[in-house]
Amino acid sequence: MRDSFRGRGGELSESDWIAVEFEGKRLSGRRGESLAAALTAAGIRAMRLTRREESRGIFCGMGVCQECLVEVDGVANQRACMTKLEQPVSVRRQRHFAKAIAGGDGEDPQPTGAAPLDPDVLVVGGGAGGLNAARSATLAGARVLLVDERPLPGGQYYKQPLAIPALVEENASDPQFAGGRALIEAAEAAGVTMLRGARVWGAFEPLEFLILDDGGCRPCKPKRLIVAAGAYERGLPVPGWTLPGVMTTGAAQTLLRSYRVLAGARMLVTGNGPLNLQVAIELARAGAEIVGVVELAQRPSPGMLPALGKMLANAPALALRGARYLAELQRRRIPVVYESVLAEITSDAGGLSGLVKRWPPHPGDAGRRFEADAVCMGYGFMPSNEILRALGCVHRFDSVRGHLVTERDADQRTSVPEVYAVGDCAGLGGAPAAEAEGVIAGLAAARSLGCRPSADQHRSEVRARAALARHRRFQEGLWRIFQAPRLTTELAGPETIICRCEELTLGEIEADLEPGFSSIGALKRRTRGGMGRCQGRYCGPILTALSAAREGRALDEAGHWAPRPPITPIPIGQIVDDRPLTETSEAG
Ligand SMILES: Cc1cc2nc3c(=O)[nH]c(=O)nc-3n(C[C@H](O)[C@H](O)[C@H](O)COP(=O)(O)OP(=O)(O)OC[C@H]3O[C@@H](n4cnc5c(N)ncnc54)[C@H](O)[C@@H]3O)c2cc1C
Ligand code: FES
Repeated sequence: MRDSFRGRGGELSESDWIAVEFEGKRLSGRRGESLAAALTAAGIRAMRLTRREESRGIFCGMGVCQECLVEVDGVANQRACMTKLEQPVSVRRQRHFAKAIAGGDGEDPQPTGAAPLDPDVLVVGGGAGGLNAARSATLAGARVLLVDERPLPGGQYYKQPLAIPALVEENASDPQFAGGRALIEAAEAAGVTMLRGARVWGAFEPLEFLILDDGGCRPCKPKRLIVAAGAYERGLPVPGWTLPGVMTTGAAQTLLRSYRVLAGARMLVTGNGPLNLQVAIELARAGAEIVGVVELAQRPSPGMLPALGKMLANAPALALRGARYLAELQRRRIPVVYESVLAEITSDAGGLSGLVKRWPPHPGDAGRRFEADAVCMGYGFMPSNEILRALGCVHRFDSVRGHLVTERDADQRTSVPEVYAVGDCAGLGGAPAAEAEGVIAGLAAARSLGCRPSADQHRSEVRARAALARHRRFQEGLWRIFQAPRLTTELAGPETIICRCEELTLGEIEADLEPGFSSIGALKRRTRGGMGRCQGRYCGPILTALSAAREGRALDEAGHWAPRPPITPIPIGQIVDDRPLTETSEAG
């Protein structure tokens, strides 16, 4: 697979290649690419082995699911999708979850004991929303610290390609890459301080944070907070969804767009929403055979014309882009199957086989099988709102979209006055909305600190408010067109894994849903569902729905798990104070 791109990207020099030893096999990866990309390019899919000795591989591709854990140079718990290749490495599959938690031979980084960082504004997330927020607040006169977990800012929409000259050149004309590059450069030119490859893992009221980077753990006490943490893809449990080679559509897109690696030569793309169409086209243009695109929503019909009109009136370029994707799929003779769903995935020596069925079910429909090397599932997104919820910001449940939405005013200020929320973490609105919200929140946060934005900035705020209103109208039309049933466990059988980390099946969970013990908290304590490394990001929405249905109540914020630190898994050395016990207790 790699070879097909080597020619397209120009020959790489010797120094661009890094030796990777994988369980005795000698491979090579490109400097700066993720370990997951290097392993995928070499045809290696299975990364960690579960307690039941089942193989797991890349699923989310963005550091959330923890399914790609490997041991790197003897250090356990390394996410292959987030580990950059900088020097020769020796890699092993991570063999057992419990053993892995005990740690590898590597040293945990220790708390630095450094004085707290004290920016005027802390921005969490360097995507479309965060970069705009940080730039606007900085230009208005605030001291801004932007923290992003990735080594390269840009987030999901503006994710940047591997910084190898040949690939950068090849991607120069891509508008998403170019837009992202311009935005990052604009934020840097404005003077935003960026902490790259750093995670906010602790958020405590009123406004205290813990940040982990290569140097260790740092406290941060900003005067204002802007959360721009984005979203992750929703999972849909069907038999076989944990097989290596089955991944989110976004994971396949990241392998391709960031690293020019195809997840498979033949790929099936399934789910609901426009991202699947875009990624199917991107993969096909890169040389993958797309055996089918499966969409849960209805086939476009004249009844959708009002929605289409709304999209055209408010964002004609975006609406036409969608139409071009459909036309290109047709031109490439890629079958698009509507009102259907991926019902099961099986594997054998020849690869994966996806069973696609009509949805709602049709009597007598035996389904249709699609053979592929990789299967993508993209059923929309879930907001990454853990920091906002930990700080007590009020949320309401959006029953149409099936997720919590952060309550905000017109300045993107939450119910906690010092906290602003922008972009997909507050409610899914897409990249243009995230950008506009970023500008508005950045200026509002700066003003609240006494800064006085320039007349130019005032004009960009007016433009941002107008753009936001237009984009929200566009989104209303878009989601009317992709309107589809919100599935949870309809396709799962008793043996289907629901909680990927704890390997809990639907049958086991249902057996524990006893009357009087079916609240979400009781369910967690009884089953361990949501106690694994992804911290319930995938099983949480499903268990929440099961619990609410069993208790006969509507879904609301109280029916969700309370977020607890650490927000993402971190080495234990970060939360264990290394001072002697007496000193610790005296201090306490
Ligand atoms: C996998 C994926 C692929 C997508 N691809 C497309 C696409 O091709 N086209 C399209 O139109 N839309 C796409 N979307 C949707 C689009 O990316 C979003 O609408 C847009 O990026 C929202 O911008 P944002 O600033 O809210 O979040 P993002 O751009 O996602 O940025 C969020 C950033 O926050 C960082 N972050 C999160 N938590 C922390 C933390 N605790 N500490 C430090 N940093 C943190 C992340 O690393 C990330 O860089 C995609 C979404 C996903 C999840
Ligand atoms: S694939 Fe690496 S964390 Fe999900």
